Amino acid sequence: MPAATLTVCDDPAAIAALAARRIAAAAREAVDQRFRFTLILAGGSTPRALYTRLATVDRDSLPWDATTMLFGDERCVGPEHADSNYRMVHESLLSSLPPRSARVYRIRGELGASAAASEYDVITHKVRNNDPEERFDVVLLGMGADGHTASLFPGRDFSADAKFFAAPAIAPPASPVRDRVTLTLRAIADSRRVLFLVAGQDKREMLARVLAAAQSGGDPSLPASMIRSSGTIEWIVDRGAAPVP
Ligand code: 6PG
Repeated sequence: MPAATLTVCDDPAAIAALAARRIAAAAREAVDQRFRFTLILAGGSTPRALYTRLATVDRDSLPWDATTMLFGDERCVGPEHADSNYRMVHESLLSSLPPRSARVYRIRGELGASAAASEYDVITHKVRNNDPEERFDVVLLGMGADGHTASLFPGRDFSADAKFFAAPAIAPPASPVRDRVTLTLRAIADSRRVLFLVAGQDKREMLARVLAAAQSGGDPSLPASMIRSSGTIEWIVDRGAAPVP
């Protein structure tokens, strides 16, 4: 398994531009070789600029009619809720695409964490054609200042996730929405390419800790360091988040 790579961009707009290029290249390869492209979307605020690019300047770079999109995690709220990741993705990307041009599988967080996770676990198996050899072409992830990624938060019992692709999660008390659904380490590991998008000086210290922990096998208290891929992991970060040389 190749080591993770780190690419430093000037600013969040440059992160979005580079990530869009990476996704377009992965999509071309996926469609050429397998006639379809699967993309796992990250929540939070950092990816919004990327999604807006994919809906505008880079819109023609993706084969939307051969693209299937899933979510890496979701807050247990409805799709119209201000804290919904689906709402953020719909506003920045999906609302700009022709109807039914891409297959999008929303996590129905409004069902509650357990029911929504069970439903999404079935959906994820279905997207993978129930084939253990299937891989997601690109998984987009962010990283919180506490070292979480998707909705895999410090203190999580990862052993309970081993049999699942989607699972319930609980965010820390300070989070706007505590009940979550998240893809598991197992689901994310079944990928060809993981792209972490991280911006801001507030992430710098944690990013350095996570990169170090990832290189020495991963630290469960820093969930982002536990992420593995069957393919490659690239950290695309801005100068604010980049480790000081
Ligand atoms: C979420 C995301 C979460 C996010 C990080 C970074 O639902 O909030 O999945 O894992 O990627 O918290 O968020 P920012 O991009 O807003 O810093």
